[in-house]
Amino acid sequence: MIVIGGPASESLASKVANELGTVAGKLEVRRFPDGEKYLRVLSDVEGKNVAIVQSIHHTPDELLFEYLLLADTVKDLGARKVTAFIPYFAYARQDERFKPGEALSFRTVSKLIESVATAEIYTIDMHQHRVLKSSEVFRIPSHNLSAMPLLADHVQKLGKLHDPLVIGPDAEAEQWAKLAAERLHTDYDVFQKTRLGDAKVEVRPRRSNAGSRDVLIVDDIISTGGTIVEAVKILLGQGAKRIQVACTHPILAPGALEKIK
Ligand code: R5P
Repeated sequence: MIVIGGPASESLASKVANELGTVAGKLEVRRFPDGEKYLRVLSDVEGKNVAIVQSIHHTPDELLFEYLLLADTVKDLGARKVTAFIPYFAYARQDERFKPGEALSFRTVSKLIESVATAEIYTIDMHQHRVLKSSEVFRIPSHNLSAMPLLADHVQKLGKLHDPLVIGPDAEAEQWAKLAAERLHTDYDVFQKTRLGDAKVEVRPRRSNAGSRDVLIVDDIISTGGTIVEAVKILLGQGAKRIQVACTHPILAPGALEKIK
Protein backbone atom coordinates (compact mmCIF):
# COMPACT_ATOMS: atom_id res chain seq x y z
CA MET A 1 0.00 0.00 0.00
CA ILE A 2 1.08 3.55 -0.67
CA VAL A 3 -0.36 6.56 1.17
CA ILE A 4 -0.59 9.80 -0.78
CA GLY A 5 -1.57 13.08 0.83
CA GLY A 6 -3.41 15.55 -1.33
CA PRO A 7 -2.33 19.20 -0.94
CA ALA A 8 -4.77 19.67 1.96
CA SER A 9 -3.40 16.83 4.08
CA GLU A 10 0.26 16.22 3.32
CA SER A 11 1.41 16.21 6.92
CA LEU A 12 -1.49 14.02 8.05
CA ALA A 13 -0.68 11.58 5.25
CA SER A 14 2.95 11.39 6.40
CA LYS A 15 1.79 10.56 9.92
CA VAL A 16 -0.58 7.89 8.60
CA ALA A 17 2.17 6.42 6.41
CA ASN A 18 4.48 6.41 9.41
CA GLU A 19 1.92 4.57 11.54
CA LEU A 20 1.57 1.99 8.78
CA GLY A 21 5.34 1.61 8.47
CA THR A 22 5.43 2.91 4.92
CA VAL A 23 6.38 6.15 3.19
CA ALA A 24 4.04 8.77 1.80
CA GLY A 25 3.90 9.18 -1.97
CA LYS A 26 4.97 12.39 -3.64
CA LEU A 27 3.09 14.84 -5.85
CA GLU A 28 3.76 18.00 -7.76
CA VAL A 29 0.85 20.41 -7.62
CA ARG A 30 0.81 23.95 -8.94
CA ARG A 31 -1.28 26.31 -10.98
CA PHE A 32 -0.99 27.09 -14.65
CA PRO A 33 -0.81 30.83 -15.38
CA ASP A 34 -4.50 30.84 -16.30
CA GLY A 35 -5.49 29.52 -12.85
CA GLU A 36 -6.04 25.87 -13.79
CA LYS A 37 -4.54 23.23 -11.54
CA TYR A 38 -1.55 21.06 -12.53
CA LEU A 39 -1.07 17.77 -10.74
CA ARG A 40 1.59 15.14 -11.28
CA VAL A 41 2.06 11.90 -9.34
CA LEU A 42 5.79 11.42 -8.74
CA SER A 43 5.63 8.03 -7.00
CA ASP A 44 5.13 4.65 -8.63
CA VAL A 45 1.54 3.52 -8.00
CA GLU A 46 1.21 0.79 -10.61
CA GLY A 47 -0.35 -2.36 -9.17
CA LYS A 48 -0.51 -0.85 -5.69
CA ASN A 49 -3.34 -0.16 -3.28
CA VAL A 50 -3.38 3.63 -2.93
CA ALA A 51 -4.80 5.44 0.08
CA ILE A 52 -5.45 9.10 -0.67
CA VAL A 53 -5.70 11.43 2.33
CA GLN A 54 -7.39 14.73 1.54
CA SER A 55 -9.56 16.61 4.00
CA ILE A 56 -12.04 18.80 2.13
CA HIS A 57 -12.13 21.87 4.34
CA HIS A 58 -11.74 25.68 4.06
CA THR A 59 -11.65 25.92 0.23
CA PRO A 60 -13.87 22.90 -0.39
CA ASP A 61 -14.36 23.29 -4.13
CA GLU A 62 -10.63 23.45 -4.81
CA LEU A 63 -9.76 20.61 -2.45
CA LEU A 64 -12.51 18.43 -3.84
CA PHE A 65 -11.23 19.04 -7.36
CA GLU A 66 -7.70 18.13 -6.28
CA TYR A 67 -9.02 14.86 -4.87
CA LEU A 68 -10.80 14.11 -8.15
CA LEU A 69 -7.67 14.82 -10.22
CA LEU A 70 -5.51 12.75 -7.91
CA ALA A 71 -7.78 9.70 -7.66
CA ASP A 72 -8.44 9.64 -11.38
CA THR A 73 -4.73 9.94 -12.14
CA VAL A 74 -3.51 7.18 -9.81
CA LYS A 75 -6.15 4.83 -11.19
CA ASP A 76 -5.12 5.71 -14.73
CA LEU A 77 -1.48 5.05 -13.79
CA GLY A 78 -2.45 1.48 -12.90
CA ALA A 79 -3.25 1.60 -9.17
CA ARG A 80 -4.99 -1.60 -8.07
CA LYS A 81 -7.40 0.03 -5.61
CA VAL A 82 -8.05 3.62 -4.56
CA THR A 83 -9.26 4.24 -1.02
CA ALA A 84 -10.29 7.75 0.04
CA PHE A 85 -9.53 9.01 3.53
CA ILE A 86 -11.49 12.26 3.76
CA PRO A 87 -11.52 13.31 7.43
CA TYR A 88 -13.73 16.37 6.80
CA PHE A 89 -16.30 15.71 4.14
CA ALA A 90 -17.56 19.07 2.93
CA TYR A 91 -21.10 19.56 1.68
CA ALA A 92 -22.49 16.84 3.97
CA ARG A 93 -24.72 19.45 5.62
CA GLN A 94 -26.63 20.04 2.39
CA ASP A 95 -28.15 16.58 2.50
CA GLU A 96 -31.71 17.70 1.97
CA ARG A 97 -33.64 20.15 -0.21
CA PHE A 98 -34.62 22.60 2.54
CA LYS A 99 -36.06 25.06 -0.01
CA PRO A 100 -37.46 24.12 -3.43
CA GLY A 101 -34.83 24.03 -6.14
CA GLU A 102 -31.79 23.64 -3.89
CA ALA A 103 -28.88 21.45 -4.96
CA LEU A 104 -28.51 18.20 -3.04
CA SER A 105 -24.78 18.89 -2.72
CA PHE A 106 -24.01 15.91 -0.47
CA ARG A 107 -25.30 13.55 -3.15
CA THR A 108 -23.52 15.34 -5.99
CA VAL A 109 -20.16 15.32 -4.20
CA SER A 110 -20.55 11.64 -3.33
CA LYS A 111 -21.27 10.81 -6.95
CA LEU A 112 -18.19 12.75 -8.09
CA ILE A 113 -15.96 10.90 -5.64
CA GLU A 114 -17.31 7.55 -6.79
CA SER A 115 -16.94 8.53 -10.44
CA VAL A 116 -13.11 8.63 -10.23
CA ALA A 117 -12.73 4.95 -9.33
CA THR A 118 -12.74 5.44 -5.56
CA ALA A 119 -13.37 1.92 -4.28
CA GLU A 120 -13.88 2.65 -0.58
CA ILE A 121 -14.14 5.73 1.61
CA TYR A 122 -13.31 6.60 5.22
CA THR A 123 -14.57 9.78 6.90
CA ILE A 124 -14.37 11.09 10.47
CA ASP A 125 -17.51 12.33 12.24
CA MET A 126 -19.17 13.12 8.97
CA HIS A 127 -22.18 15.36 9.39
CA GLN A 128 -24.93 12.75 9.24
CA HIS A 129 -28.13 14.33 10.42
CA ARG A 130 -30.96 13.51 8.09
CA VAL A 131 -28.86 10.89 6.32
CA LEU A 132 -28.12 8.53 9.17
CA LYS A 133 -25.74 6.14 7.48
CA SER A 134 -23.16 6.94 4.84
CA SER A 135 -24.40 3.84 2.95
CA GLU A 136 -27.55 5.85 2.18
CA VAL A 137 -25.42 8.16 0.04
CA PHE A 138 -22.46 6.08 -1.17
CA ARG A 139 -22.72 3.01 -3.32
CA ILE A 140 -19.12 2.04 -2.41
CA PRO A 141 -18.18 0.66 1.05
CA SER A 142 -18.02 3.61 3.47
CA HIS A 143 -16.83 3.90 7.05
CA ASN A 144 -17.52 6.87 9.28
CA LEU A 145 -15.16 6.82 12.26
CA SER A 146 -15.42 9.01 15.33
CA ALA A 147 -12.74 11.09 17.01
CA MET A 148 -14.91 11.68 20.08
CA PRO A 149 -13.31 9.09 22.42
CA LEU A 150 -9.85 10.51 21.62
CA LEU A 151 -11.08 14.09 22.03
CA ALA A 152 -12.59 13.20 25.41
CA ASP A 153 -9.26 11.68 26.50
CA HIS A 154 -7.43 14.80 25.35
CA VAL A 155 -9.74 17.22 27.16
CA GLN A 156 -9.57 15.11 30.30
CA LYS A 157 -5.78 15.09 30.17
CA LEU A 158 -5.48 18.85 29.65
CA GLY A 159 -8.48 20.11 31.55
CA LYS A 160 -8.80 17.63 34.44
CA LEU A 161 -12.58 17.83 34.41
CA HIS A 162 -14.29 16.94 37.65
CA ASP A 163 -17.54 14.95 37.31
CA PRO A 164 -18.26 16.62 33.95
CA LEU A 165 -21.61 16.83 32.26
CA VAL A 166 -21.28 16.28 28.51
CA ILE A 167 -23.55 18.42 26.34
CA GLY A 168 -24.41 18.07 22.67
CA PRO A 169 -25.73 21.43 21.45
CA ASP A 170 -28.47 19.89 19.32
CA ALA A 171 -30.39 16.65 19.05
CA GLU A 172 -28.13 15.34 16.29
CA ALA A 173 -25.08 15.77 18.52
CA GLU A 174 -26.38 13.02 20.79
CA GLN A 175 -24.22 10.48 18.93
CA TRP A 176 -21.06 12.43 19.87
CA ALA A 177 -22.16 13.39 23.40
CA LYS A 178 -22.86 9.73 24.13
CA LEU A 179 -19.43 8.59 22.93
CA ALA A 180 -17.60 11.28 24.92
CA ALA A 181 -19.70 10.63 28.04
CA GLU A 182 -19.04 6.89 27.84
CA ARG A 183 -15.33 7.58 27.64
CA LEU A 184 -15.47 9.92 30.65
CA HIS A 185 -17.81 7.57 32.58
CA THR A 186 -20.34 10.31 33.08
CA ASP A 187 -23.78 11.51 31.94
CA TYR A 188 -24.80 13.59 28.95
CA ASP A 189 -27.68 15.62 27.61
CA VAL A 190 -28.46 17.46 24.39
CA PHE A 191 -30.03 20.85 23.77
CA GLN A 192 -32.66 21.65 21.17
CA LYS A 193 -31.57 23.84 18.30
CA THR A 194 -33.50 25.71 15.65
CA ARG A 195 -31.50 27.14 12.77
CA LEU A 196 -32.73 30.63 11.86
CA GLY A 197 -30.13 31.40 9.18
CA ASP A 198 -26.60 30.47 8.01
CA ALA A 199 -25.06 32.05 11.11
CA LYS A 200 -28.03 32.34 13.48
CA VAL A 201 -29.40 29.62 15.71
CA GLU A 202 -31.70 29.41 18.70
CA VAL A 203 -30.72 26.86 21.37
CA ARG A 204 -32.94 25.73 24.25
CA PRO A 205 -32.06 23.44 27.16
CA ARG A 206 -33.85 20.17 27.82
CA ARG A 207 -33.73 18.38 31.13
CA SER A 208 -30.18 18.69 32.48
CA ASN A 209 -28.91 21.33 34.85
CA ALA A 210 -25.24 22.17 34.73
CA GLY A 211 -25.30 24.10 38.03
CA SER A 212 -21.87 23.91 39.76
CA ARG A 213 -20.62 21.24 37.34
CA ASP A 214 -17.77 21.16 34.85
CA VAL A 215 -19.18 20.89 31.35
CA LEU A 216 -17.78 19.52 28.11
CA ILE A 217 -19.65 20.58 24.97
CA VAL A 218 -18.96 18.36 21.97
CA ASP A 219 -19.92 18.80 18.34
CA ASP A 220 -18.80 17.60 14.94
CA ILE A 221 -18.21 21.04 13.43
CA ILE A 222 -17.71 24.59 14.63
CA SER A 223 -18.32 26.83 11.66
CA THR A 224 -19.60 30.32 12.52
CA GLY A 225 -19.48 29.53 16.25
CA GLY A 226 -23.16 30.49 16.66
CA THR A 227 -24.17 27.09 18.03
CA ILE A 228 -21.42 27.00 20.66
CA VAL A 229 -22.02 30.58 21.78
CA GLU A 230 -25.72 29.96 22.34
CA ALA A 231 -25.03 26.71 24.20
CA VAL A 232 -22.44 28.39 26.42
CA LYS A 233 -24.90 31.20 27.28
CA ILE A 234 -27.39 28.65 28.56
CA LEU A 235 -24.77 26.79 30.60
CA LEU A 236 -23.46 30.00 32.15
CA GLY A 237 -27.04 30.91 33.02
CA GLN A 238 -27.38 27.55 34.79
CA GLY A 239 -24.26 28.29 36.84
CA ALA A 240 -21.85 25.84 35.20
CA LYS A 241 -18.47 25.85 36.91
CA ARG A 242 -16.11 25.41 33.96
CA ILE A 243 -17.02 24.98 30.31
CA GLN A 244 -14.79 23.33 27.75
CA VAL A 245 -15.60 22.78 24.10
CA ALA A 246 -14.30 20.07 21.77
CA CYS A 247 -15.10 19.49 18.15
CA THR A 248 -13.73 17.20 15.47
CA HIS A 249 -13.69 19.77 12.66
CA PRO A 250 -12.81 23.35 13.62
CA ILE A 251 -13.86 24.89 10.33
CA LEU A 252 -13.95 28.29 12.04
CA ALA A 253 -15.44 30.62 9.44
CA PRO A 254 -14.15 34.22 9.60
CA GLY A 255 -15.12 35.81 12.92
CA ALA A 256 -15.97 32.50 14.65
CA LEU A 257 -13.07 32.49 17.11
CA GLU A 258 -13.69 36.13 18.07
CA LYS A 259 -17.36 35.34 18.64
CA ILE A 260 -16.51 32.38 20.87
CA LYS A 261 -13.92 34.35 22.85
C1 R5P B 1 -24.94 21.28 12.81
O1 R5P B 1 -25.97 20.79 13.15
C2 R5P B 1 -23.57 20.88 13.27
O2 R5P B 1 -23.57 19.71 14.02
C3 R5P B 1 -22.93 22.01 14.01
O3 R5P B 1 -23.62 22.21 15.22
C4 R5P B 1 -22.98 23.24 13.18
O4 R5P B 1 -22.52 22.98 11.88
C5 R5P B 1 -22.18 24.35 13.79
O5 R5P B 1 -22.33 25.48 12.99
P1 R5P B 1 -22.10 26.91 13.59
O6 R5P B 1 -20.77 26.91 14.27
O7 R5P B 1 -22.14 27.80 12.37
O8 R5P B 1 -23.24 27.22 14.51
